[in-house]
Amino acid sequence: MSVAATTARANVNLALVKYWGKRDPALNLPATGSISITLGGLSVETEVDFNGSGPDRFEIEGAEAVGDEARRLATFLDLVRREAGIQERARVSTRATVPRGIGLASSAATFAALALAATRAAGLTLPPPALSLLARRGSGSAARSVYGGFVEWHRGARQDGADSLAEPLAPPDHWDIRVVVAITDTAPKGVSSRVGMARAASSPLFPAWVEGAEADLAEARTSIRKRDLEALGLLAEHSALKMHAVGLGARPPLLYWRGATIECMHRVWALRQEGTQAFFSIDAGPQVKVLCAPEDAIRVMEALGTVPGVQRVLTCALGGGAELVR
Ligand code: DP6
Repeated sequence: MSVAATTARANVNLALVKYWGKRDPALNLPATGSISITLGGLSVETEVDFNGSGPDRFEIEGAEAVGDEARRLATFLDLVRREAGIQERARVSTRATVPRGIGLASSAATFAALALAATRAAGLTLPPPALSLLARRGSGSAARSVYGGFVEWHRGARQDGADSLAEPLAPPDHWDIRVVVAITDTAPKGVSSRVGMARAASSPLFPAWVEGAEADLAEARTSIRKRDLEALGLLAEHSALKMHAVGLGARPPLLYWRGATIECMHRVWALRQEGTQAFFSIDAGPQVKVLCAPEDAIRVMEALGTVPGVQRVLTCALGGGAELVR
């Protein structure tokens, strides 16, 4: 039986060891594990009400979603309906504090928030591991946004995906670090992560990417446990650059960077030369995310803010997991 309208909120996350490639696209099962940090303040809030018949209706930032976007959300709600044993169609409305479709992983926050709001609205109370499994079906990286702080999403080995879920490695207060985000281009991204990953599998570099994952994950776990910013930052840069190298080798090729993206990378390396510990990461878009200590965040913001082509700079601390709002 469905209950009242329910609202939940979830934060985006930044992968330090990237998810890039699927062993099962239908179930969003990743080719490798990944490790992320959940970012405070960049969130998506979603209200779900299973209130009637007709098609599901989705309102995103006040505008009705149609086409592929609506289909993807409705397919996800079908999973929730099946699990809850209900038939009712839903009304879903979503608001974000993060610009959508520009490579800031808003789909992670969207599906983590939707998994929590929709299950509660359908009368189900899922524990976080089950919520992570469900969120993964909407968008792989959403499995990680169920938790706050430092999070690992396991590749898993089972074909049904029952062991491919995220788990928290450490809470946000384990280690106070900052992520400075340089927005270089606000146009919607050209190639979605979903399409990008399918293409990346054609790259001759893809097998090497998969082979290196376990070592990268082990190194990330150790540097998080030791709060070693240099080790974690160098590894995060390595993982991001390898991910983009896989795309360059694909057919057709994938290149998410703009000129300003590359200038930001050089600026980060120059900062390190000058003695500031700053390390970049880049996802399926042109924005640059820079990991640093809290006391260096202003210096990093100033340095990136003067790179030609950078439109806006913002800073995040670590944030918590998905939560009910009301
Ligand atoms: C580059 O989770 O958005 O941000 O599972 O197809 O929805 P789908 O992809 P998505 O991919 C995120 C890719 C990434 C790296 C990462 O977050 O690990």
